[in-house]
Amino acid sequence: HAGLFYGLQTLSQMLPPRPDGASAIRISAVTVTDAPRFPYRGMHLDVGRHFFGPEFVKRYIDQLARYKINRFHWHLTEDQGWRIEIKRYPRLTEVAAWRRETMVEKNFDPFVGDGQRYGGFYTQDEIRDVVAYARERYVTIVPEIELPGHSVAALSAYPELACTAGPFEVGTRWGIFEDIYCPKEETFAFLERVLTEVMELFPGEYIHIGGDEAPKARWEASEVAQDVIRREGLADEHELQSWFIRRIERFLNANGRRLIGWDEILEGGLAPNATVMSWRGTQGGIDAARQGHDVVMTPTSHLYFDFYQGDPAQEPLAIGGNLPLERVYAFEPVPEELTPAEGRRVLGAQGNVWTEYMKSGDHVEYMVFPRLLALSEVVWSPGGARDFDDFARRLPWHFERLDASGIRYRIPDVLGLARDRLTLDEKVEVALAAPARGTIRYTLDGTEPTASSTHYAEPLEVDVEDGPVTVAARIYTADGAAGPVRRATFTRTTPRPAALVDAALEPGFLVDLFQGSFRRVGDLERRGQESVRREKVEAVVLPPWAPEEEFGLRFRGYLSVPQDAVYTFRLTADDGAVVRFAGATVLDHDGSHPAPEKEGQAALARGLHPVEILYFQAGGGRALKLEWAGPDGVFAPVDAGVVRRVR
Ligand code: ACM
Repeated sequence: HAGLFYGLQTLSQMLPPRPDGASAIRISAVTVTDAPRFPYRGMHLDVGRHFFGPEFVKRYIDQLARYKINRFHWHLTEDQGWRIEIKRYPRLTEVAAWRRETMVEKNFDPFVGDGQRYGGFYTQDEIRDVVAYARERYVTIVPEIELPGHSVAALSAYPELACTAGPFEVGTRWGIFEDIYCPKEETFAFLERVLTEVMELFPGEYIHIGGDEAPKARWEASEVAQDVIRREGLADEHELQSWFIRRIERFLNANGRRLIGWDEILEGGLAPNATVMSWRGTQGGIDAARQGHDVVMTPTSHLYFDFYQGDPAQEPLAIGGNLPLERVYAFEPVPEELTPAEGRRVLGAQGNVWTEYMKSGDHVEYMVFPRLLALSEVVWSPGGARDFDDFARRLPWHFERLDASGIRYRIPDVLGLARDRLTLDEKVEVALAAPARGTIRYTLDGTEPTASSTHYAEPLEVDVEDGPVTVAARIYTADGAAGPVRRATFTRTTPRPAALVDAALEPGFLVDLFQGSFRRVGDLERRGQESVRREKVEAVVLPPWAPEEEFGLRFRGYLSVPQDAVYTFRLTADDGAVVRFAGATVLDHDGSHPAPEKEGQAALARGLHPVEILYFQAGGGRALKLEWAGPDGVFAPVDAGVVRRVR
């Protein structure tokens, strides 16, 4: 039945967006042979930070179903609000569903509140209605009841479940709170009764129990918690959390359900049958799959739809990050580190929508669309079949249909202005594209395009003979809405002379390792530190012997440039790195940055160029890769040589 339903969705995507009821509808004669790549195709919505009523949730589910998403992860409880009626515990909706006020923008300290009481919840009848609505659309709801952390709202209603006396107040600012459920018998009695009502309402197999961001300070100071640690022979508070989750898992399993939780549930040992939702990157998913557990990928790097999707200066306030559409589309749910058998543990992926900074349904839709369309192909289409340019060409078709449904999607950036460009010529051709229905309007002096700026009709011949030119462009839709402004500067330059034209090279880079704690690559140099290890390596990647924690690396070698041309370098670095030619920086990707990849260009003359790459690792993610492309635009790893003898 689900297959027929998805066949109908495909058919409906081929129909006109607004049939007039009079004209004949014509569609191409096609045969579609289709099947999803992953069984778990998820979207999430946080209704705790801001509340979205049943009508909005149904509208959201309509769109998920249209794009063949089959799991809706409904994040129902938070520090700032409990949103589900529980008959046994009326104070959860009388007290815990309401906060005194909400922080204004990011005024954490000093705190500025809006003075407006805020809240809401779903009655059990409303939940049943939404569950039935979703089921008709082949969407299974995964309800989330957060434990042991993100539970301050519940503690405000039932302070006896905490480790300290309280009183507690429903959260009015965002963040991670130290007050969490105490591992008391009465807490388990409470949670089991809550989960019993939850299981009565939600027929799906999975119950999400959160498990993320639970500080251990209260448990460290609590007699009750310490007694449990001693009684159960646990090593520490992480094992206590693990014990807590295992106990909840036994209860869910005894009721025929499966537990799913955020990747912190790996800490202190995974509950035997748990499924892991990997959000702090993909490592939690990799570890869980290797331990034989099922995994859903939701990494911040690619699937946090609360992150910015364009230049923050032009976007509504968001939590941070940088997650453009292209990056969502590029996500690969099965990490290459996994064997095929381990890879089959990856059930799929999910986009997460945390709503601290989204107060309205329109804003949620703006953050979700069109990124949801990219996710839809990630989880449905065969991995090798994805092509962003093709996706971008198909987007306008979908925008027409979203327009007909009144969905407030983000108008995409103009394509063709992703970065500044160098040229050796007097003129440069600039081709722009609009992955939306509408017109592109542009300026050639860097000023903001308006509805009366020049209309883009064909590739521009930009004259750069007399100096750099900044092209600024945006999309205007048929109804006059303006998309974000994209700018790129085009500069004529001459090739940097080679240092050597002919020399005997031994392939490889010389790499030096530096010990210490660095926050910028400049720290590596300023301190005049000695290298503690020097090796020859083949490529700019993290050597297998690189330390676990903090360190710096310097790669040096000669790049052999085949012809006078502009070369594009693509650097993937986590944490920071820079690329220099003879001391001149051509790619500055230093400090901490939201996106690991960055591109830069250099005009280089034929011959050998001394290249230096400086990198530092400050903990957290680890990545380093350097690729380059010549005029043909095909990227390949940068290889270099160490000069043996100058001829
Ligand atoms: C999360 O974003 N705290 C799961």
